[in-house]
Amino acid sequence: MDLGLKNRVAFVAAASTGLGRAVAGRLAAEGATLAICARSRQTLEAAAEEIRASTGATVSVVTCDVTHEADVRRAIDETAERFGRLDILITNAGGPPSGGFAQFADGLEPYRKALELNLLSTVSLTQAAVPHMRRNGWGRVVAVTSLSAKQPSTSLLLSSIARAGVLAFTKVLATELAREGITVNSVCPGFTLTERLSELAEAEAGRNGIEMEAVYEQWRRDIPAKRIADPAEFADVVAFLASERASYVTGVALAIDGGIIKSLY
Ligand SMILES: NC(=O)c1ccc[n+]([C@@H]2O[C@H](COP(=O)([O-])OP(=O)(O)OC[C@H]3O[C@@H](n4cnc5c(N)ncnc54)[C@H](OP(=O)(O)O)[C@@H]3O)[C@@H](O)[C@H]2O)c1
Repeated sequence: MDLGLKNRVAFVAAASTGLGRAVAGRLAAEGATLAICARSRQTLEAAAEEIRASTGATVSVVTCDVTHEADVRRAIDETAERFGRLDILITNAGGPPSGGFAQFADGLEPYRKALELNLLSTVSLTQAAVPHMRRNGWGRVVAVTSLSAKQPSTSLLLSSIARAGVLAFTKVLATELAREGITVNSVCPGFTLTERLSELAEAEAGRNGIEMEAVYEQWRRDIPAKRIADPAEFADVVAFLASERASYVTGVALAIDGGIIKSLY
């Protein structure tokens, strides 16, 4: 299937490693032109160089902390100016610290930070990108969330509350923008092999006094597919949602989770 991504311009946030990096590589392989952002320039440059070398795509880099509203607007506007358009936005960021109410029973600061990192960054990236999409009457917004968005978790309290907000935000936006040719969807990754996952495994092992491998083993047992995902499996689905082929899909929150989420929707 031709995804129709040739010459589309995409901004992929938090894309120097992990899920964002995999999505950037996939969009580039489909012929899109990219801007990728993250905070550390060195890792970002290395990712861009790898993507250029393996796909021949044009990839520009913008150092940007997605929690800084002014930086986000600058990064998006610069991208649209450089390439003359912006068609696709993938919102993404790092994850907040793991733990439940026992770890976060005192004070609001960790909650504020998590909302800034995972909810408000989605809002500011979208606010900056949508005017550029409106100009061409075509756009795709895909928000990276988490399985915790659909299935709140006692070990991921901060992530759970911030991601639920993202699902509500994207649903409302999808309804408002559908008539303008702009689709807005969320994706909810399950356990996927990245640095973030190994940080979560380390924290979980520490909390329970067990080895990290035992944590992975438990996760594999719990996942109906009986394995952890490869980031490429996640990226394939995101590329589809960002494509011409998904033109009538909007307002969904799609799990890419090997079956671990137990809810109907
Ligand atoms: N992997 C999983 O199994 C899984 C499952 C569910 C949900 N998620 C969520 O999916 C998202 C991506 O996860 P991942 O596994 O790809 O994480 P990762 O491997 O740790 O990669 C995080 C990426 O985000 C960038 N980043 C972090 N904070 C940023 C910020 N404030 N501004 C801009 N860039 C930032 C990092 O680069 P810099 O550090 O240089 O900025 C890096 O490129 C996270 O929110 C995570 O919680 C992951």
